Amino acid sequence: MTRSPVVVDFLYFLSVLFVSSVIGISLESLNDQRKVYIVYMGSLPEGEYLARDHHISMMQALGHNKIMADEKLIRSYTRSFNGFAANLNKKELSILRVMRGIVSVFPSQQFQAQTTRSWDYIGMSLKDVSQNPNVESDIIIGHLDAGVRPESHSFSDHGLGPIPTKWKGACLGGKNFTCNKKLIGARFYELLDTSANDLTIGHGTHTASTAAGRAIKNSNFFGIANGTVRGGVPSTRLAVYKVCNSFCDGHNILAGFDDAIADNVDIITISISYNSIQNISDNVISIGSFHAMEKDILTVNAAGNLGSSGFGSTASIEPWIFTIGASADRTINNKFILGNGRTLMSNAVNGFDMSTDKKLVYGRSVSSRCNESFSTQCTLDCIDPHLVNGNILVCDIVITTSSDIFVTAQSVGASGVVVREGEDLIIYGPKIVPMPTAILKNSDFQYVKSYLKSKIVNSARIIKSEIVLNHAPVVPSFSSKGPNTIFPQIFKPDISAPGVNILAANLREKSPSEYASNSKTFHSSYTFMTGTSMACPHVAGAVAYVKSKHLDWSASAIKSSLMTTARNMNFHYNIDDELGHGAGYIDPMKAIHPGLVYETSKEDYFKMFCGLGPEGVKLRKIFRRKKKCMKGIETSPKDLNYPAMTSSVHKNSNFTISFFRTVTNVGHANSTYNAQVSTGDNMVYINVVPNVLSFVNLKEKKSFLVIVTGNWLNQDHVSCSLIWFDGTHKIELNLAMKYEEDLDLLNISHIS
Ligand SMILES: *[C@@H]1O[C@H](CO)[C@@H](O)[C@H](O)[C@H]1NC(C)=O
Ligand SMILES: *[C@@H]1O[C@H](CO)[C@@H](O)[C@H](O)[C@H]1NC(C)=O
Ligand SMILES: *[C@@H]1O[C@H](CO)[C@@H](O)[C@H](O)[C@H]1NC(C)=O
Ligand SMILES: *[C@@H]1O[C@H](CO)[C@@H](O)[C@H](O)[C@H]1NC(C)=O
Ligand SMILES: *[C@@H]1O[C@H](CO)[C@@H](O)[C@H](O)[C@H]1NC(C)=O
Ligand SMILES: *[C@@H]1O[C@H](CO)[C@@H](O)[C@H](O)[C@H]1NC(C)=O
Repeated sequence: MTRSPVVVDFLYFLSVLFVSSVIGISLESLNDQRKVYIVYMGSLPEGEYLARDHHISMMQALGHNKIMADEKLIRSYTRSFNGFAANLNKKELSILRVMRGIVSVFPSQQFQAQTTRSWDYIGMSLKDVSQNPNVESDIIIGHLDAGVRPESHSFSDHGLGPIPTKWKGACLGGKNFTCNKKLIGARFYELLDTSANDLTIGHGTHTASTAAGRAIKNSNFFGIANGTVRGGVPSTRLAVYKVCNSFCDGHNILAGFDDAIADNVDIITISISYNSIQNISDNVISIGSFHAMEKDILTVNAAGNLGSSGFGSTASIEPWIFTIGASADRTINNKFILGNGRTLMSNAVNGFDMSTDKKLVYGRSVSSRCNESFSTQCTLDCIDPHLVNGNILVCDIVITTSSDIFVTAQSVGASGVVVREGEDLIIYGPKIVPMPTAILKNSDFQYVKSYLKSKIVNSARIIKSEIVLNHAPVVPSFSSKGPNTIFPQIFKPDISAPGVNILAANLREKSPSEYASNSKTFHSSYTFMTGTSMACPHVAGAVAYVKSKHLDWSASAIKSSLMTTARNMNFHYNIDDELGHGAGYIDPMKAIHPGLVYETSKEDYFKMFCGLGPEGVKLRKIFRRKKKCMKGIETSPKDLNYPAMTSSVHKNSNFTISFFRTVTNVGHANSTYNAQVSTGDNMVYINVVPNVLSFVNLKEKKSFLVIVTGNWLNQDHVSCSLIWFDGTHKIELNLAMKYEEDLDLLNISHIS
């Protein structure tokens, strides 16, 4: 299956790699086959501890001499947690797994990395975010991705003051990589890499400019979407951790977390996700982000681009992570107007203007060299340039990134191309084309063929693409969906943000079209990309904004404020409800005045682990909590103080379930909130006890119970909401029940 533009790049490289590793196996003795494994050892012990020496001695215990041990040890994690990555064989693995002090040993997997007006659309205009530059520029966003292109204007430090004194990182960007007062830190991890520069991918430069880029006026893609490209808060600082090259290795991602936490970043944005659900103990994003949470650093993570594989597709399931789905706030229209006046919609981003109508020529009628099937498909070397004569070439093929169609069309001097769309375009939306192109759905393509057969002189024109705004954001089908398959009582995804046709910085020399990735003549400093990868840095920017207004707020308070103030999405266009968009569409301007917040502390997660029975004991071990669960401190996961409530209930029977929550007053000292519940047409009854909360102080906490009773009426799930309202602030959270055949399935099954 083809994925979003960026992911396709990574998939391409993955397949190359796969072939080479298969060859590797045949050459190496199977017994001594070595792979990179991560040996995770939990939190750093207190007091003096020479982590690297310890790791070397562990490798020596496997029978290596010191030099060999050093060579096999790829990386030590010594700054924020304890562990190492090493080249190990099966025998060594089995020895290590039972060694003292080891939490888990798992293979280092390869990962996939999964716009101008977007900020204004979510209500955060430039004037709103440039009010207090001293505070705003104290915030540091850590970016785990494919590096950045430091020369991009998005990373200029013009007018920025000195680097914040809290910064503990370094500029180790390697060859030809200069930091400045904007781009304050850089590191890279791949052994064969020489720099933190985003040399070929462009994904890192694009996401970093969306999270933290400076405001660049008059940015556009060949005139389309002309406006200001910027990060959420353009004066925040950026620290770059290049954990991906053509692909992202797990042991490098973990190294990025190890450094970012110790370097003292405030927020981590990571637009990378697993393509399948992972056990927590084998999951570098779970482990890294947990240690980040312990330092009150919020990790913002893309939900993934696997929504078309259905419910439960998001691999971003940790309650301490902020999981971001994509939504579309605009579409890019590309019109194809036939000479008879009929307008067809092309699924392409076309930056070219065709000034006059051109004649349409069918591949079959402009080929004298090839048989019918090859010529209708405009196969390379079949088309005769004299017969094309600058007209629009109609080719009966489904366009793919590997087709030669643009090479053919350009070599025979066609002024445009008409082809059919494939499944990837239906899922991910329009892709950039390197010349005027109409990519049509099959029925429209058939219409063009019949139009070609008609006796009248045919003509047509491909119009440059235009941006069309959607008034109600919709969740695109690629955005990975809930429910949470590891912690069923923690709602996921958390929230939705713009992730479709996002314009941001590009590598200037890189072709922005996947259909002509090697083109040396087609480039643009700004380009459109689509994916939850693009939604994630929007939320990182929004988190920076809320933090700049409330420096004393915890990471969980900021997450709560963004979730409880999110805009509702239009039900009619979003049939997956909150399983697609979580709390809704981010509204950062509202999030700075949430009134009440649902806060979760590190201790709350440990108490929740205690509520998970034997599986939770494993989790406590994973995160090296030495103390045993004491009686009475355990919290059921449904009662974790999360800004959403969900649980599964039995099909075919009535149910009663309750949720315990605590809110902290961050609105007005003296305030009274009333509970409002919305159950839609569902046969559920919600009782909130107490249903009035009165506060006399800021930071005062009040707890309440939400009791839900209902009858099963042949539904899959019910969606309700709970709102606290004081006349000014509206704090809304999702309350969703999922009906299951077999409740045993709900037990946590993949923690180990
Ligand atoms: C190094 O960076 C400069 C701009 O800062 C650029 O002009 C030059 O091409 C780069 N060299 C290499 C080898 O990437
Ligand atoms: C973009 O907008 C600015 C200001 O509105 C205008 O001056 C500029 O010419 C526009 N650029 C393009 C390529 O349309
Ligand atoms: C998760 O752990 C269980 C039990 O150790 C194991 O059977 C399962 O294969 C693991 N799943 C993945 C995706 O690694
Ligand atoms: C058309 O020609 C190509 C190459 O000459 C050949 O491989 C293909 O089988 C032919 N197709 C038909 C339908 O004859
Ligand atoms: C469910 O509740 C309804 C109404 O409260 C009641 O009539 C019905 O008997 C209950 N069904 C079961 C299986 O308890
Ligand atoms: C809140 O109300 C109480 C009693 O009505 C009053 O004593 C107190 O001064 C008020 N606090 C603020 C901050 O207005």
